[in-house]
Amino acid sequence: MSKRIDWVREHCKLLLGISEEYRRTRPFEGLKIGTGIHIEAKTVALLLTLQDGGANIVSTGNLNTTQPDAVDVLRAEGVTVIGQPTKDSAEHSAYQDEVLAVHPDLILDNGGDLFVRYLDDPYPNLLGGTEETTSGRMRLAPLRDRLKKPVLVINDSPIKQFAENEHAVGQSALESLMRFTNKVTNGEQVTVFGYGACGRGIADNFRGAHARVSVVDTNPVTRLRAHLDGFATPPRHLAVSEADVIITVTGGHDVVTVADLPRMRDGVILANAGHFPTEIDAAGILGASDVVDVREYSDDLITVALSDGKRIHLISRGHMFNLAGPRPLGNSIESMDLGFALQARCLEAVARKDVDASSCVVPVPAQIDSAVANSYLDRKYSYQSS
Ligand SMILES: NC(=O)c1ccc[n+]([C@@H]2O[C@H](COP(=O)([O-])OP(=O)(O)OC[C@H]3O[C@@H](n4cnc5c(N)ncnc54)[C@H](O)[C@@H]3O)[C@@H](O)[C@H]2O)c1
Repeated sequence: MSKRIDWVREHCKLLLGISEEYRRTRPFEGLKIGTGIHIEAKTVALLLTLQDGGANIVSTGNLNTTQPDAVDVLRAEGVTVIGQPTKDSAEHSAYQDEVLAVHPDLILDNGGDLFVRYLDDPYPNLLGGTEETTSGRMRLAPLRDRLKKPVLVINDSPIKQFAENEHAVGQSALESLMRFTNKVTNGEQVTVFGYGACGRGIADNFRGAHARVSVVDTNPVTRLRAHLDGFATPPRHLAVSEADVIITVTGGHDVVTVADLPRMRDGVILANAGHFPTEIDAAGILGASDVVDVREYSDDLITVALSDGKRIHLISRGHMFNLAGPRPLGNSIESMDLGFALQARCLEAVARKDVDASSCVVPVPAQIDSAVANSYLDRKYSYQSS
């Protein structure tokens, strides 16, 4: 196993504990789990834990985030991994079709793609599964009447909200901007689009790094919250025109487009932390009529020069930038260990039929949240009872 992945797995303490239990209890014995989740070091820990529970796993990655060393480890451990890293959505779709072709009994989805595809071509043995993200919940909630299976939304656990979305995404977005650009944050104007859990963490971390932070959110109540949290909330056009860095994290589409180019400052950096690479219209910006030059410093750091002399820097072509580029680390190990412990326990609840079709696209059951929180805290404070 690669040393980096060894390090991560050894620090996924909750998953290690669950693995030990699963090797005895085998809750997924005889079941196939189909997944389409970002394949990186922490995912290895999750998928091997599910395998320890008896699951036969067929997995593929997400657009642009699959890490080859993680794939190698999974394959060596007997997990079926379909495809290779790709930014091509047609190729990625074909991989997802291959996952569903094995008719998984459980689906561990990330963005709703697998459940939406299942509805196009349903099969009888699907028990249900989990959805990791906000974006997936937004797609799947209107499909409840057709899904009619237990689908537990990990994102809607308070633990996922504060541990990963708020604290960890904020940290990794800051780490990633510096990793990509090596540029200063102090005194820079950072505009964050979207002030949900992820946006709050990003705004907070950049403020902590001495940036001046403004927030744009389409929801006035959320904007008020940002204002009372001490962030500037100027009208959208001003927030765009004053920004040195623009980060989108909304779960929406076409949040920043070619129509914004005339307002942007020379040297602005555009980055997306939302799930789908559609928040920043990268293709539109790269192909805009007033682009006179495109310079690729790397595949993940591109500068477009406009006819008025301005330069716009685009990170990772609008793909989720905290899992892209050189040496992508993603969110902290412990935050993902918490979220993935929720994943394992929720899939186990579906496999054991502890939840039924009335739990279709609903948050993680409260007793699972409590059990995972207790395990984390018990481990942290175990020295007190010894
Ligand atoms: N990068 C990561 O590691 C990571 C981790 C978790 C979640 N995510 C993704 O980040 C995105 C946001 O997640 P969240 O949990 O914060 O979602 P959320 O629903 O809590 O918040 C999204 C916010 O964006 C606002 N919004 C929507 N459209 C907008 C627009 N066009 N302009 C400005 N504001 C807009 C909404 O009003 C809302 O306040 C999702 O796509 C999610 O899947 C990324």
